[in-house]
Amino acid sequence: MSAKNIRIEVMRAIESKVDSFIDSYLIPIDEIWQPTDFLPDNQSDKFLDDVTQIREEAKELGYDFWVTMVADTITEEALPTYESWLMDVEGIDQHGENKNGWSKWVRHWTAEENRHGDVLNKYLYLSGRVNMKEVEITTQHLIADGFDIGTDRDPYKNFVYTSFQELATNISHKRVGQMAKKKGNLLLGKMCTIIAGDEMRHHLAYREFVKTIFDHDPSQMMLAFADMMKKKIVMPAHFLRESGGNIGTAFENFSNCAQRLGVYTAHDYVEILKKLNAYWELDKIRSLTDDAEKARDYLMKLPARLERISERMKFPEDQYHFKWVEANGRF
Ligand SMILES: [Fe+2]
Ligand SMILES: [Fe+2]
Repeated sequence: MSAKNIRIEVMRAIESKVDSFIDSYLIPIDEIWQPTDFLPDNQSDKFLDDVTQIREEAKELGYDFWVTMVADTITEEALPTYESWLMDVEGIDQHGENKNGWSKWVRHWTAEENRHGDVLNKYLYLSGRVNMKEVEITTQHLIADGFDIGTDRDPYKNFVYTSFQELATNISHKRVGQMAKKKGNLLLGKMCTIIAGDEMRHHLAYREFVKTIFDHDPSQMMLAFADMMKKKIVMPAHFLRESGGNIGTAFENFSNCAQRLGVYTAHDYVEILKKLNAYWELDKIRSLTDDAEKARDYLMKLPARLERISERMKFPEDQYHFKWVEANGRF
């Protein structure tokens, strides 16, 4: 059987577990938080006062902070790209005769994710610190540009990507929340922390999918993991651009901001890889093909190698001026 057909077999074999994954890692819709839980109540007489407070508190946060918040928000807002990409993965079939369980996972995951962009967008709008029209144009561009994360339609590679990326977003939302809280923006702090909690549950789910695949098809799973790490895990917003800009041109500048701020760094990338290697117990996997043995060897040595490279990395200190954060000339 070809590697592709084996993947479809493996996806079918695991499919029966998807309902239990949904129960374990997602929260029922009627119980989970909603954006309005963290925003001023627009039916209350206190609404305008609460908004004034948000706007006052927001003045304590600096330029790099807002750039990072905007880029995080836009990344969440590009959810249509991620859902359509995942629905197209081999073994995930929304048209399947037996109502493919994987497509149910993707829909439920999307439904949880959708609240992130929603709450962040509303907060940004109320904060008064960013140029919303420019943010909206970038969001539309990003969805129109799509992305290419190097996974093709391969479920193994896609689940490596999502395992990695959900933890990366957990880290960055968590740190943004801590910074907001430190500067007295308690509501924003809570909002980012609760989003980070969702990302963590999603990470735990995807890493479980990969672990289960390792049990079924260890050599191919190892090769897929190594292939993703050789290409490097690109960020979902790697095509980010501003109005009038070329595809991808805003991404590097944003990434430098996130590095400077310490929200998501090259060191975090290495830490995530170490955690994945440890959880998937790469060292204990038996009966690998020669190729997969080599892939394992590469993966086990990779964190130390990347650590050495990250120590030598330098990031420009000068602030590129994004159109998103003119902040009415106040910065
Ligand atoms: Fe998210
Ligand atoms: Fe996520």
